[in-house]
Amino acid sequence: MADAPGTNDTRAVLVGVDFGAVDFTASLEELALLASSAGAEPIDTITAKRNAPDPAYFVGSGKADEIGVAAKALGAELVIFNHALSPAQQRNLERRLELRIIDRTSLILDIFAQRAQSHEGKLQVELAQLQHLATRLIRGWTHLERQKGGIGLRGPGETQLETDRRLIGERVKALRTRLTKLRKQHETQRRARGRNNTFSVSLVGYTNAGKSTLFNTLTKAGVYVANQLFATLDTTSRRLYLGDETGSVVISDTVGFVRELPHQLVAAFRATLEETIHADVLLHVVDGSSPTRMEQIEQVNEVLREIGADHIPQILVWNKIDAADLQPGVERDEHDKISRVFISARSGAGLDLLREAIVEAAASAARPIPGSRPKNEEQDDAALDIFPEDDGESNPTSTHVGPH
Ligand code: GTP
Repeated sequence: MADAPGTNDTRAVLVGVDFGAVDFTASLEELALLASSAGAEPIDTITAKRNAPDPAYFVGSGKADEIGVAAKALGAELVIFNHALSPAQQRNLERRLELRIIDRTSLILDIFAQRAQSHEGKLQVELAQLQHLATRLIRGWTHLERQKGGIGLRGPGETQLETDRRLIGERVKALRTRLTKLRKQHETQRRARGRNNTFSVSLVGYTNAGKSTLFNTLTKAGVYVANQLFATLDTTSRRLYLGDETGSVVISDTVGFVRELPHQLVAAFRATLEETIHADVLLHVVDGSSPTRMEQIEQVNEVLREIGADHIPQILVWNKIDAADLQPGVERDEHDKISRVFISARSGAGLDLLREAIVEAAASAARPIPGSRPKNEEQDDAALDIFPEDDGESNPTSTHVGPH
């Protein structure tokens, strides 16, 4: 959940270099959001135009000094680059500007570190951070390769770099073993749930789309909500009662997705995202008021492909209709399945329609149409067909339910 910048937040200057990318402005706006989520207060944004990064400072040395002067004048303690810096660039900048410098990858890793709540989540973040560090050791410390000797931990004849690599390697191995054990436990729990035929719903979506707000409103606003979290589930799964016919479903909130999600983070979070991989339906929450919503949908689908969850049927939850001047409603695809629901998680408008959509999805999963293809094949088609060629501006059409 994105926190509003508070008075105790670290004051940060943001830096974006325009290499001609079309999403330059959107990406910078998002950096501000990411920075706030990490507990920083973005106080200024400095941009530059270049054809290629400068090898020493990423920006030119004159621009680097300009950033330093501005940051100091504004009392900033931190400079955040909207790019991946090499360890050498980061170090050079820190020395020249005498300020803490971080890049986009480190910022995202930091947010994940702050947000990880479960034991497993924490292990996964540590694994991702170590893997990030390991790549930086290789690239950044090669000049130390030849240095021998040293006191303490290193083995005979090891360079400092070899020692560091070995220690990181050992910790990575230990983390992987523990995560594998946890994964097996989860698998057992999931099978138990599967035997009980509990329909499971996962919220996915771009960061700031409103997943947590929706999760809370839905689970609180349900006719009946178990007030306790399942001890056996991740902390963000709850049972949602949807009436006598459907009974309860399990609904899970997941980490938000962002563009340029560090690859090692996706890999490390695969275990957490298994809730998502095994869901019966995905509620893909979209910030309908964001100008970059279509691109965000694509980014989320990209991550879903990466974790192998692109075959699961999706319902697009078009959130924040209050801010986009839209009305609650439902849109159906050519198979008459609900494909999009227009809601406001904040005001609660359209939540009844969303609940009905989940009930309908659960009912169709429980009653396969005679002669229909196996579930997985159908799901493949559904995944390919998500929201084709819609520019996001159109309102629901003929099959739309509710006032428009
Ligand atoms: P991550 O945790 O970053 O993945 O974000 P999230 O998808 O969980 O979003 P979150 O629920 O934290 O909401 C992000 C922001 O959007 C918050 O400031 C919410 O108050 C706001 N928000 C959520 N739903 C609505 C809505 O229906 N209308 C409006 N106007 N704002 C909303």
